[in-house]
This record gives sequence, structure tokens and C-alpha cells, in this order.
Amino acid sequence: MAETKSICLLPGDGIGPEITAEAVKILGVIGDRFGVTFEFDEALLGGIAIDTTGSPLPDETLVKAKAADAVLLAAIGGPKWDTTDPGKPRPEQGLLGIRKELELFANLRPVKIFPALRSASTLKDEALEGVDMLIVRELTGGVYFGKRARETDIPGAATDGGAGMRAYDTMEYSEYEIDRITHVAFDAARGRKGVVHSIDKANVLESSRLWREVAHRVAADYPDVEIIDQLVDNTAMQLIRRPAQFDVMVTSNLFGDILSDEASMLTGSLGMLASASLGDGTALYEPSHGSAPDIAGQGVANPLAMLLSVEMMLRYSFQMNEAADALSSAIESVLDEGWRTRDIADAQTADEFLVGTSRMGDLVIERL
Ligand code: IPM
Ligand code: MG
Repeated sequence: MAETKSICLLPGDGIGPEITAEAVKILGVIGDRFGVTFEFDEALLGGIAIDTTGSPLPDETLVKAKAADAVLLAAIGGPKWDTTDPGKPRPEQGLLGIRKELELFANLRPVKIFPALRSASTLKDEALEGVDMLIVRELTGGVYFGKRARETDIPGAATDGGAGMRAYDTMEYSEYEIDRITHVAFDAARGRKGVVHSIDKANVLESSRLWREVAHRVAADYPDVEIIDQLVDNTAMQLIRRPAQFDVMVTSNLFGDILSDEASMLTGSLGMLASASLGDGTALYEPSHGSAPDIAGQGVANPLAMLLSVEMMLRYSFQMNEAADALSSAIESVLDEGWRTRDIADAQTADEFLVGTSRMGDLVIERL
């Protein structure tokens, strides 16, 4: 009997269900080809979970996610649930909640240029030469999870000088949190070019000074890997100036969130960036892009970041490297042949090569 792998699907909101359908389609074919039966169990997360249950992360979802061999998440959020009212649930709380509950402290976001997509990048061709980096983002700590509050009746806080509101968020890091994420980065660098850029704001922030100290302590265990400290503002600039200098980048939750969106543009579209969130238990895979509510339901969303997330799942959770390689070269072939979804199309894209979500999925399957 074929080996069985259980996958908890979290389609979420916006374009989520459309790109999830492509992932399921592809996994069916990969399962047949490689003798594995993938079992899917869908659960609610984000806006749809709020609408259905009142909570962005229902208990049932957590139970299903923890029980699965891997979790595949599409995207959450949308204007329907946007609120600044601290008393109202937000879809993002579901995403942050599941990351925290599964203790997915390491978020890996590979940034690789597909040769066929170079012209889709806003950067000059020569700047993209040799770009192949891995962003290792700390995912369960920092300012995302530090103490935060909104206070009222604070003297002098109002615009007219009277009593008003004040809000704060706290960026906190413990030694063990920095230590474990830095190890992930250094381990990854060993299988790559052997360079880790540790990104911080140590010239200003105390949490960054601790980050730098611990990062160097970890680096001492890896004499074969070079560590380079870089300030986050400089990194934002270097990513555009000379992106090929980076191999592995390790950084805090907030800096990693911002830098990975920036780095995605090197590839031409946020629609191409996959991610894996790893901890000690069940791992979670998700595209780095959002739910794109503006194009939801139209069948035009780019499913490739989702399929590239499936590739990471095959590799990291199922040790199916051959299947992962097959999927990644199928995607590359489709792009080489000129097929494009709207977000990665350019003036050179002929009308007949402009395809929708489902056709893009089919094209990848045909080349598997
Ligand atoms: C990401 C997203 C999330 C984050 C949002 C949706 C909460 O931007 O995964 O990068 O900030 O982590
Ligand atoms: Mg982000």
C-alpha cells in the first residue's frame, strides 16, 4: 500500500481557495507518480474563520493542524475584516496565532531568480546576476509578540495638548530565541555558499545588541561559515544595489517581514515567493504574498508561489527531494516557454501566453 501523508489545508481568504485548488491538483499527480497518497483535511483560518465561528483561529483548526504531517496555508485577510478597533478580531491574529501555537520559529523565504522572469523585475538585468538568497526570518518573537497596549487619558498625548491616547509595541528577544534561529541560518549556509548576513539595528536597539552578541556566539561553532553584521537600513539599500552579495540572511520578525517583501521584487513578483515555517513539530508552508482581495474569484491569481511552497513541503516535511526537483523544473519549463499570469507578464507577453490560475496549474502538471 502507498505511504500516506496527511496535509491540513488552510485556504483562507481572497485568492486563497483558488491557489489551494492548484496545489491539491498538483499533489494528486505527484502522489500517483511517486507512490504517496496525500490526504487532505480542510480547516478554517483568517477572515472566513471569523465569519463562520467568530474566531480567526478556531480550536478545531489548531487540532487538525497539529495532527497533520504538514500544513499548507494559502492567504488570509481582506478589507472586509480591516479594523483598527482593538476589540474586534482580525484575520492576521489567526495567522500569528497558528505560528505561535505550532511554535514555528523559523521562516525560510528563498529568493531565487527564474531566468525567464528577469525582465519582470524592476531592477536592471546585470544587478540580478547571481541572485540566490535565503531569508531566515524569526517568526514567533520580537515586536510581533511583545507587550503592546493602547492607553487612554494620557496627559499631553492628545493633539491639542490635553489628555489623549498613546499606544506601544515592544520588541523583545531572549537569548534562546536568537540562538535557535541563528542555528537554522548557519546550518542552511553550510549547504550553500557559507555566508550569513545577520541583520539588526544594533546602533539603536538593545534587542539588536543582544541579537548581535548571540549571533556571534553561535557563529563561533561554525568556523566554516562567514558572519557579516549589517544594519537593517543598509540592508534595505544593499538589496537593491547589489543583491547578489547575499547568501543567507538571518533577522528578526519585523525586519524579515519587510526585507522579504522587498527581496521578492527581485524575482519580479511577490507571486513567486514561497515560504516554509519550521519548528520542532508540524511545519507550515505558505506563499509570502497576501490574499489579493482585488483579484479574488477572477481566476487570474498566480499560483506559483503556492506551488513553490508545495515544493518546500515535499523537501522539508516529506523528504521527497526527487518530487520537489521535478516540480521545480516543471515550473521553470513553463516559465521558459513564456507562459505568464498577469502579475509576471510584460509587454513581450503575447496574448495567447497570458493564462489564468487554473491553466497555469495545468501547464505545470503537463510538464511534471
Ligand atoms: C507575512 C505577512 C504577515 C506577517 C501578515 C499577514 C500578518 O505579511 O507573512 O509576511 O506580517 O508576518
Ligand atoms: Mg509580510
